[in-house]
Amino acid sequence: MKLRLLYILSSCSGIAAGSAPAWALDGAALYKTHCSACHEAGDQRAPARSVLKQLSPQQIITALEKGAMIAQGAERSRAERRVLAEYLSGKPLDEMANPIPKSAFCQSSDRGFAKAASGPSWNGWAVTAQNTRFQPAGAAGLPPEDVPKLKLKWAFGFPGATSASAQPVVFAGRVYVGSWEGDLYSLDAKTGCIRWMMETEAGVRSAVTIGKAPSGTGYTAYFGDLAANVYAVDAETGELRWKAKVDDYPLARITGSPTLHDDRLYVPLSAREESRVSDPKYVCCKFRGSVVALDAADGKPIWKTYVIEKEAQPTRISRIGTQLWGPAGGAVWSAPTVDPKQNAIYVGTGNSYSFPPVKTTDAIVAMDMKTGRIRWVRQMTDLDVWNGGCREGDPVVCSEDAPDYDFGASPILVETKDGKRVLVAGNKSAIIYALDPDHDGKTIWQQKIGRGGTSGGVLWGPATDSRNIFAATGDGVRVGGGREVDPNMGGGITAVDVSTGEKVWSTPHPPCGNRKPCSPTQAAAVSATAGVVFSGSNDGRIRAYSTQDGKILWEYDTVQEFTTVNAVKAKGGSINNGGPAIAGGMVFTNSGYSHHSGIIPGNVLLAFSAQ
Ligand code: HEC
Repeated sequence: MKLRLLYILSSCSGIAAGSAPAWALDGAALYKTHCSACHEAGDQRAPARSVLKQLSPQQIITALEKGAMIAQGAERSRAERRVLAEYLSGKPLDEMANPIPKSAFCQSSDRGFAKAASGPSWNGWAVTAQNTRFQPAGAAGLPPEDVPKLKLKWAFGFPGATSASAQPVVFAGRVYVGSWEGDLYSLDAKTGCIRWMMETEAGVRSAVTIGKAPSGTGYTAYFGDLAANVYAVDAETGELRWKAKVDDYPLARITGSPTLHDDRLYVPLSAREESRVSDPKYVCCKFRGSVVALDAADGKPIWKTYVIEKEAQPTRISRIGTQLWGPAGGAVWSAPTVDPKQNAIYVGTGNSYSFPPVKTTDAIVAMDMKTGRIRWVRQMTDLDVWNGGCREGDPVVCSEDAPDYDFGASPILVETKDGKRVLVAGNKSAIIYALDPDHDGKTIWQQKIGRGGTSGGVLWGPATDSRNIFAATGDGVRVGGGREVDPNMGGGITAVDVSTGEKVWSTPHPPCGNRKPCSPTQAAAVSATAGVVFSGSNDGRIRAYSTQDGKILWEYDTVQEFTTVNAVKAKGGSINNGGPAIAGGMVFTNSGYSHHSGIIPGNVLLAFSAQ
């Protein structure tokens, strides 16, 4: 069934219109992957296909957006929900209103993009392909003494979204940010007006990475979506240059950000499979994490390396009679790290999903940049067969006491002030490992900075100023079986000396007082500039700390309703996953993460400035 266009952006005057291509989404495949387990006899309460067929497409949309299927609908992008509604009802959906008013688009055109491109930027996940998450003082334009003066400049609401967590990116005086609803926005950094927006197939939680177009003119913005598609669009206009599906496994997704280096994109692949196993009938598991290298000019694959070499085979039968498959897992959750000296790509990998456990999981893996061949592997936790079915206590499904110690954060390649090269990586055990990139990842030091756990330890990424590593910890301890976590345990941020591994300072999460809900967990990636490091918390606070002594210089509560520049109702919530972007005297952060360890949903992008 053909998908009709939602937005006719080119009719808005004075804006560079993004293309809204009619993605050929496959309703049958989406239904099979995401709905059929319950709707085809798996759940007696779920209406059968023949019943769903009698509904109107609008009724199905309503069920997915406001009704009984709101949880299932929130996992799908707007485009996917629309295609599912049309597929299941067998009828076309009436045009849906554009949820963003015309007034949200910039009134004046943006001349001088190419010139602005050399201005301050926070490009890609971490500013550099070495994943330092450090913004030099010049580009930051935010000296420590200005930090206490930071004030909200504008807020932008993501219409329909129940989560906001992508890493914002700053380039050429604009902010590039994806949404869980399946939109990519290019906004004016000063005012938040929309330069262009485009609809994607699935939700976008990767950062955008921008580079000079390999052939032709201008700049290309690259990003991935939650259906394992990589997009390349003209950064100035939003026009699609190419799109490539990089994994055929139905649950494969791009959670981490593609890394751009020398006209090649290195794309990490993860999947939603391990949480599926909370359904004990789920045939667990076949997904294998991988890295794909693409030619940035046309999206053609150059190599693809699976973290797990062998394809899954049927293995054992679970206690309730489900056939299990393995090996599986080794998801690559985060942006690959480039080492130009060694011509190597480093990634952190997640746990095994099923038996047999594999040596390349919960590991730092070095790949040859040219060929993708695995050069060395440093596994930090073995026998970690973890999945959403572990609670059932079936030793065939999960290894006993599997700790779930993924590497969710990108490794960081640092050159210390005294010229030593160190590869630093933290995982959910709350240990930071310093490895020698020039000696096959030999351990230089390691340091434990928290308790560690399923949603704990070092989750999405530290930052470094080449002297210290600044790492926040998740470490939420759930109480009472719900989502609430113990307000007195976990969180905090620690500075560790890159050369020696010694702790320099540690600042705990401030006490909750009467705040509700309160969570001390600080799982979001942290961002640093000279003298200041920013860290968001799961209860929606964003804080700036002095890199000297860890003193809190500034704090802002994002859990509130905001008047937005695009007139979309929006509120803040948990800050998690992506961290703030610091550039040109401004700080940008998403707020409102309702997934994984998030406790407060929200849908807002916030822009702060000291001026
Ligand atoms: C975890 C099991 C499960 C999954 C997965 C699931 N559903 Fe459902 N669905 C149900 C149940 C149970 C009901 C009945 C809910 C009720 O009556 O309260 C239902 C009801 C519905 C309804 C009817 C709602 C109404 O108001 O009558 C629609 C439409 C629907 N589902 C669509 C979907 C689509 C589309 C997907 C895939 C994106 C999906 N469902 C995935 C279990 C599921």
